[in-house]
Amino acid sequence: MTRRLGWLAAAVGLTAVGIVTYRAAETRAQPGPIRPIAAVESAPLGGPEREALRLIREGQQTFRHDTFGDEAFWGDALGLHRAVVGQKLGGVGPGLSPKAALEAGLKVDMEAIPPGLAQKIKAGQVNLDDPATTVALLKLDSVVGVKAFLNPDGSAKAMGITCALCHSTVDDAFAPGIGHRLDGWPNRDLNVGKIISLAPDLKPLTDRLGVTEAELKKVLLSWGPGKYDAEVMHDGKAAGPDGKSAATLLPAAFGQLGINVHTYTGWGSVTHWNAYVANTQMRGKGTFFDPRLKDEKKFPVAAKTGDWNIRNDPDLVTSKLAALQFYQLALVAPKPPAESFDATAAARGQAVFHGKADCKRCHVPPLFSEPGWPMHTAEEIGIDDFQAKRSPDERYRTTPLAGLFTRAKGGFYHDGRFAALADVVRHYDAHFKLKLTDAEVADLVEYLKSL
Ligand code: HEC
Ligand code: HEC
Repeated sequence: MTRRLGWLAAAVGLTAVGIVTYRAAETRAQPGPIRPIAAVESAPLGGPEREALRLIREGQQTFRHDTFGDEAFWGDALGLHRAVVGQKLGGVGPGLSPKAALEAGLKVDMEAIPPGLAQKIKAGQVNLDDPATTVALLKLDSVVGVKAFLNPDGSAKAMGITCALCHSTVDDAFAPGIGHRLDGWPNRDLNVGKIISLAPDLKPLTDRLGVTEAELKKVLLSWGPGKYDAEVMHDGKAAGPDGKSAATLLPAAFGQLGINVHTYTGWGSVTHWNAYVANTQMRGKGTFFDPRLKDEKKFPVAAKTGDWNIRNDPDLVTSKLAALQFYQLALVAPKPPAESFDATAAARGQAVFHGKADCKRCHVPPLFSEPGWPMHTAEEIGIDDFQAKRSPDERYRTTPLAGLFTRAKGGFYHDGRFAALADVVRHYDAHFKLKLTDAEVADLVEYLKSL
């Protein structure tokens, strides 16, 4: 297993070197007509199509497997791996059984499980209550978004997380929680806060926020499944004025191409946000500069900790940003299964979307967000401004609607305040005084489900 992990690390390292040699070749290349994929793959290095394929593959590897060195935080500092393996295997506490891991929303990539083991699991011959099984799954690199780092004797040395933790799920093809990876689909089962709260040493986080361990745990457990708060480590705001958790839903990481600004509150481009998350949230070791965070009033924690200007040497993030962005832009929104909505009603709903309800004013097809600067005040869309005010531009971004069916769990809008699509439509109906009939609401919902 150590060899396998070592091989992966070597592969990542090699691709980083590949960028340098490859760019040199690119400058000599002449762009040509679009060719079939097979021709592209076998073409000599240098053409833009070949470069696109290379970027996608490299970006996928980064998205799925790269921790950017964040095991120094989750492993060395918080000791999360010790809670996962448990006391019997040299860690602390009872350990995390596969059953408990699946209950916390972690997913398993069936393609990383060798056929022999898969058969045993199917036959019920694998103990899913034993943390040792979790360790075996981690060693196979099969737990989506979680990466184990091992000592030469095979024991756990540290643990890191990747983008896929929050932004991939699986299709449950093998069993619930075990299947083929679906990159870009938000994992709305994942209880990030609960998982972090298992860490034996929360001091790096309590120090940062200036709170007690009990207070921190309360915050972490207030998030619930499918949610994470990507701003609390900068503004220290764990709850809104209504006392509810300030966490937002995990969004889709697909369907970003053509959209100008990203996140619910439009922090910046995909690559801005990737650098933000890799450095300030995953705590990978890279470079990040965003002086908007150097604001003692709005982001007191970021101003104090220097998160607005992070420098690491070596830098394990920056060389991966280009391919990572390219990969995400290549993740198109999936189409819902034909049987999951009523096509006739959806066609009527489309007319309402374009006509009487005028949703397309903001959700402009086929992007379903505005070309330009798709940002709106809280007042415009008829909600409170708490989350908007936690971002530089203090507005909400028009969410691209394609692939809505993948995020039906956990509700809609940034905090999931509307449990169902019909609630979203009724909200707009009241706010914009649309006077929609019940039939029009139902049709509009079918149309949204079809996107
Ligand atoms: C711990 C969970 C978590 C991890 C890990 C994570 N993200 Fe996110 N991601 C979020 C949340 C939550 C948001 C929404 C933040 C907001 O709007 O304030 C988000 C937003 C995004 C968006 C914007 C989506 C949109 O609709 O505009 C992209 C793109 C993204 N993440 C990519 C990544 C990449 C790439 C990585 C790895 C470098 C990553 N994320 C790691 C939780 C996570
Ligand atoms: C003034 C611009 C505007 C108009 C008009 C508008 N929306 Fe939105 N829409 C937004 C913004 C901004 C958000 C993000 C709100 C948030 O996350 O808090 C959003 C979010 C949504 C979401 C939630 C997506 C998700 O993943 O959570 C749905 C569904 C939606 N809109 C449907 C509609 C429909 C249907 C209409 C017409 C009845 C409509 N919108 C009209 C701006 C608009």
